[in-house]
Amino acid sequence: MTEKQMGQKLDKLARDIQESLLKGYSERFKREFLNPENIGKIEDPDCQVSITGVCGDTIEMSLSIKNERVRDIKFMTDGCGATISCASYVTRIAKGKSIEEALLITPDDVDRYFEGLPDEHKHCAKLAVMTLTAALEQCVGKLGE
Ligand code: FES
Repeated sequence: MTEKQMGQKLDKLARDIQESLLKGYSERFKREFLNPENIGKIEDPDCQVSITGVCGDTIEMSLSIKNERVRDIKFMTDGCGATISCASYVTRIAKGKSIEEALLITPDDVDRYFEGLPDEHKHCAKLAVMTLTAALEQCVGKLGE
């Protein structure tokens, strides 16, 4: 076997593993999972929260607010693939919205966008939205100070 053939074999193996891990998820979910956005931490954020869900996984979100709108938002998580996709989507749609509009995002919006998360991962959407809500509420509190 040549090095090139070995490389091709490893690529195929990686694709097969990815396919089996993502089995049962929609194409939208796969795209989000493979290209997540807004991962990281904002330096000197206006608000920052860390929320742990029922499963023990945590999402940390940091936000920067300008004129009562979400100017920038980033997240970090030690959670599962669904958590990554849900937090990526939630931060993506929150960016640019007013605080008021962003507070209207619900776990059902996330579930609908991904065309139905598996039952055992619906709570990942809840955790992503709970974290966003907590961060926005912290921002609201700071703006009121
Ligand atoms: S399994 Fe814990 S948030 Fe997804």
